[in-house]
Amino acid sequence: MRGQGGGLLPFAEDTPQAQAAVPFRARLPIPRELTDSKLRIPIREAEAQILPGDKTRLWTYGGTFPGPTVRRPAGQRTEVTFHHELPARVGELSVHLHGGHNRTRFDGQPGGLTKSQPLSYYCHIPRGLSPRESGNDLLLAPGARKTYVYDLMEDGRPERSAFQWYHDHRLDRTSPHSWRGLAGMWIVDDELDSSLPLPSGERDIPLMIADRTFDRHNQLTDPFKGLRPPADGIVGRSVLVNGAFMPHHHVGARRYRLRILNVSQFRSYNLHLSNGAPMVQIATDSGLMPAPVRRTEILLGPAERVEVIVDFAGARGETVELRSSKRHSGRNVTGSRTYAGALMQFRVGSERLPDRTRVPRRLRPLPEWTRKVSHKPSHRWEITIGGLFKTTWLINGRTFNPAYADAFPKLGSTVTWEVHNRTTVAHVMHLHHTDWYLLSRDGKRPPPWEDCLKDTFFVYPGERILLAGHFSDHTGKFVIHCHMLDHEDHGLMSQFQVVAS
Ligand code: C2O
Ligand code: CU
Repeated sequence: MRGQGGGLLPFAEDTPQAQAAVPFRARLPIPRELTDSKLRIPIREAEAQILPGDKTRLWTYGGTFPGPTVRRPAGQRTEVTFHHELPARVGELSVHLHGGHNRTRFDGQPGGLTKSQPLSYYCHIPRGLSPRESGNDLLLAPGARKTYVYDLMEDGRPERSAFQWYHDHRLDRTSPHSWRGLAGMWIVDDELDSSLPLPSGERDIPLMIADRTFDRHNQLTDPFKGLRPPADGIVGRSVLVNGAFMPHHHVGARRYRLRILNVSQFRSYNLHLSNGAPMVQIATDSGLMPAPVRRTEILLGPAERVEVIVDFAGARGETVELRSSKRHSGRNVTGSRTYAGALMQFRVGSERLPDRTRVPRRLRPLPEWTRKVSHKPSHRWEITIGGLFKTTWLINGRTFNPAYADAFPKLGSTVTWEVHNRTTVAHVMHLHHTDWYLLSRDGKRPPPWEDCLKDTFFVYPGERILLAGHFSDHTGKFVIHCHMLDHEDHGLMSQFQVVAS
């Protein structure tokens, strides 16, 4: 794992260009928001000024990295037409709305072998699958467009408000596609969330953290060749926030809501503020928690999100850095070692400002079904590493096969599943279809910030976690995988199929 953990000085190992970039000189970009019910997002090449000097060529949603932030009210159907305008050699794409509750055909299924991807190096995919069996009929071919329909409903009600994101999910290529820039944020608002006295408007800031490595000409490197499990964790040398290297942002001396998302391939961050101020966590991957939790450090693995309220009133006229540090507690193993260095800077105005916002003691209760869950798993997902001629990641002894499902939960049922990591590397497991309630880690009750709904979970070496989920609305196949993107591409993905009851 190259440069695992990062250096103490974030730019010590950087290219001359990144070293030349003055920390905190760039402004924090805020991606433009799209709020209409019918949207069109071209997927195309674009250039961005990320480092001083040459611009960086990217693959983008809508011409920017991150792509536009889609922001929609829960319960209101949203149709997004993605148009694949990247060169034909890129092959097929598949867009997944991470955190959404959507039909299989709009869920960004990875698909199977195609003309432009005639073999899979890591996944054992049977030949001759029909387009339907392989999910190839759901892919987005070069030059084609596809309209994804998102109802933003779950179980007969508007979805809960949440900070989600969209990214590519193509078989074997999710990691390189996302590395090139295919990621954007998505915010679902709802009445409960909007009725709370929380900061909003320009005091509600989405932050996408991504690490990338650039060559001498400021172009993204291609770190994907020759990486073999278990050493296939790609870490970038430069950490970007909203696509900018160590940016700054002006804030007033009052409360802000920061929505933080980690889209790195492999890296984790242990977030804290340089002035030691608390971050009051109000939401996880799956939106508002039952009650806020005061935290001074927050571990954020790939694809995880947290929303925190930060009060800058105590730092009037000062600067505050959002930093990541080595972990002081918890299991510091491969896969959960964190970046050490600054991510961005807040410049706090010197004016005293009124602030009518506050963090309520109660936020959103857990859904009813979480009260009657079994603690006996009905299915186990076991992660191992194996293979005769080459090593691959395995779940229940298999690599990914789009035609295969390993579990068949019934529509309308609530299940309890166990995920058991039998490797020496930590993984970050993500399950599609719905939000999940973490019941235990090795039999112990999780900490308050995990004792709620989420969709992405650290699983440490040797650990067993118990998760409960409730399947409503959609039958069909959905994936479960590690969100360390190279692990996912290298076999660590399987499927469950929700069947009619
Ligand atoms: Cu964000 Cu299946 O992924
Ligand atoms: Cu993994």
